[in-house]
Amino acid sequence: MEIREEEIRELEKADLECIWHPFTQMELYRREKPVIIEKGRGCRLYDMEGNAYLDGVSSLWTNVHGHARTELDEALKAQTDLIAHSTLLGISSVPAVRFARKLLDVVPSGLTKVFYSDSGSTSVEIALKMAFQYHRQSPKGNPKKTKFLTFVNAYHGDTIGSVSLGGIDLFHEMYRELLFETYKVASPYCYRCPYGRDYPGCKLDCLLGVEKMLDEHHDEIAAVVLEPLVQGAAGMLMQPEGFLRGVRALCDHYGVFLIADEVAVGFGRTGKMFACEHEGVTPDILCLAKGISGGYLPLAATVTSEEIFEGFLGEFTENKTFFHGHTYTGNPLACAVAIASLDLFEKERIIENLQPKIAFLKEKLSAFKNLSHVGDIRQRGLMVGIELVADRNTREGLPVADRTGHQVILEARKRGIMIRPLGDIIVLMPPLAMSVEELDKLCEATYESIRVVTEK
Ligand SMILES: Cc1ncc(COP(=O)(O)O)c(C=O)c1O
Repeated sequence: MEIREEEIRELEKADLECIWHPFTQMELYRREKPVIIEKGRGCRLYDMEGNAYLDGVSSLWTNVHGHARTELDEALKAQTDLIAHSTLLGISSVPAVRFARKLLDVVPSGLTKVFYSDSGSTSVEIALKMAFQYHRQSPKGNPKKTKFLTFVNAYHGDTIGSVSLGGIDLFHEMYRELLFETYKVASPYCYRCPYGRDYPGCKLDCLLGVEKMLDEHHDEIAAVVLEPLVQGAAGMLMQPEGFLRGVRALCDHYGVFLIADEVAVGFGRTGKMFACEHEGVTPDILCLAKGISGGYLPLAATVTSEEIFEGFLGEFTENKTFFHGHTYTGNPLACAVAIASLDLFEKERIIENLQPKIAFLKEKLSAFKNLSHVGDIRQRGLMVGIELVADRNTREGLPVADRTGHQVILEARKRGIMIRPLGDIIVLMPPLAMSVEELDKLCEATYESIRVVTEK
């Protein structure tokens, strides 16, 4: 027992001395006791001291079937017996081929080619370069189309290309001088509508902004880049019904590609396999990561239409090759697990069985209205944002320095819940495998944590 204590203290010390944590103010991090996760079982995480936490945000929106899921573990072990990694540059691997075939069976119809990488950010970088290069070299392209239309509050990752597309000042403004310019339009945020309108009376004025921009600049715009249905990192901002369909129609009308970034919303989070399905939309390029491997290993895919792929065909000397590829692109271990994950979706009819959980969550969330600092409750499938405000009538935010969202998640930890806020928006995004009983606990503990922090 004592040896264990020693080991824990040693690791805590080493964590503080050695690791620079992402998206974390280390000055403040150093003032709190680190939580060091040792194992996961089902929808629970266990720290070194043996404390259990419900994984309320799916380990940063990745986990789908729970931790240490036998089927995924076995697929991983079986693949390690064969090979851990071989390259996709110019040769192929069994799991990469098999997974590509399976993935194409489930993505919106009309998408025919899978380009692998290893994170959401890279999947978006690839989409950008594909759209740009297509227009420079395809006989059907237009080399003047070098720009992108993006949205305020967008988040597409942390590499320079994807940051250029971003629209969250807190994360992105610092790097402005490093970034390329994009045409930016306001995104739907019905609780704080940028057009000062109310849904549904508004008739989607947010689409008019997109239309105006495309009307003026479509000759220069290669693609519109959108997080379909939900802008996750901005605080689970949900788009009204018809917005995505409307953007697709505008892209078609103005001859502009639609890049759908389903890194966060893909693989069942919104209640369908892909968010685009809710509105019968097929994008020209689909970006996938996070849940693609069930939350096990870094894997991403940029899935494209045949038309785009064909724009890259030619003799070597024509220089139409897509000169892009990361070292671990299409890693066999990750692809083997991704196959097992898709098998589980099928075998356990996960999307179908999700619907009662979504309804249960909706009912539980309705109680949060009783809390006087809850301004807005947003839900799409198993994606939830609870926006805390200082004053419900004026919708004025809470003082930033109070870090209310952070205080709430510290309270939640005491109640056995691991969640991570986006500012003062409390995010819930449980694994699809979370049971109704666990969802109940997640909601009860989150409610109580918000109450304790905001109503003292
Ligand atoms: C919509 C979206 N795109 C891209 C990314 C970046 O993914 P990654 O962190 O794997 O690079 C994220 C991450 O949260 C995301 O939510």
